[in-house]
Amino acid sequence: MTTTDPAGLTVPGEEELRTFEELAVAVALEAGRLIVDERPADLGVASTKSSATDVVTVMDQRAQELIRTRLQEARPQDGFLGEEEPGTSGRSRVTWVVDPIDGTVNYLYAIPAYAVSVAAVVGDPTTPGAWRPVAGAVVNPVSGQLFHARLGGGAHLRVGEGTSRPLGVAQPPRLGQALAGTGFGYGAERRLWQARVLTEVLPHVRDIRRIGSAALDICSVALGTLDCYFERGLNPWDLAAAWLVLTESGGLFTGLDGGAPDPALVVGAAAPLHGELSELVRRAVEVAGEE
Ligand code: IPD
Repeated sequence: MTTTDPAGLTVPGEEELRTFEELAVAVALEAGRLIVDERPADLGVASTKSSATDVVTVMDQRAQELIRTRLQEARPQDGFLGEEEPGTSGRSRVTWVVDPIDGTVNYLYAIPAYAVSVAAVVGDPTTPGAWRPVAGAVVNPVSGQLFHARLGGGAHLRVGEGTSRPLGVAQPPRLGQALAGTGFGYGAERRLWQARVLTEVLPHVRDIRRIGSAALDICSVALGTLDCYFERGLNPWDLAAAWLVLTESGGLFTGLDGGAPDPALVVGAAAPLHGELSELVRRAVEVAGEE
């Protein structure tokens, strides 16, 4: 039986959510195997930088094609939005939002911190504030960590062939003791602005980590290997599944104003650290000025 959430979005019933979660897990794992098994061993030292980048793009596209095919077989009525091509809308209220390789630079260099992210969402994922994830999975195919969640069903972590265990955020430290994850966009202007914000944030936290995969960063807050996270410029596919993992673990994941996650800025942490970090980033943004 479907329900309507406070934002007016229709949320599928429990049975359907379970099916979505299982499907997200299955396709994320399969795509994860593909990108690891078929990654050329010498990719990071490929003869020219552009040829190496092309290989990554090809793997991104192949992984997305695999995910899209599997989802279409199982759920032909649903929409699809992936990093690698324009989205398609479906006949149902559900859209699958997919990042075939989140952390592509890590993938290029064989740094074992990249992920496949697959989420079922309701609403319009191209309009900030008009959608929410209802089930999803994030897998790091190198470490074997699989994060998965469904709305109202909690978040879980499975490692390799092990059994899934529930995730619950711990009481967070105060801001001054917090380890904060963040990331940087690809454009030079964006990075200059992010560097100015970072200058204001860094003196007030324990330290900063730039791990290189937003999906894994956000799941790390749920796991406790980061205390908090903020970033400007994320796309729906970077955050859809991880957002649900964090909120289903008891954490908060919002825009800077506490509303829905926003491309301008997202903040993730357990309360009350979430409030402290949001305040600090708000001040930092004021000092940093226009991008
Ligand atoms: C990027 C990663 C990175 C984040 C960037 C994203 P991609 O995604 O998640 O950590 O800082 O904002 O664009 O390009 O590797 O899929």
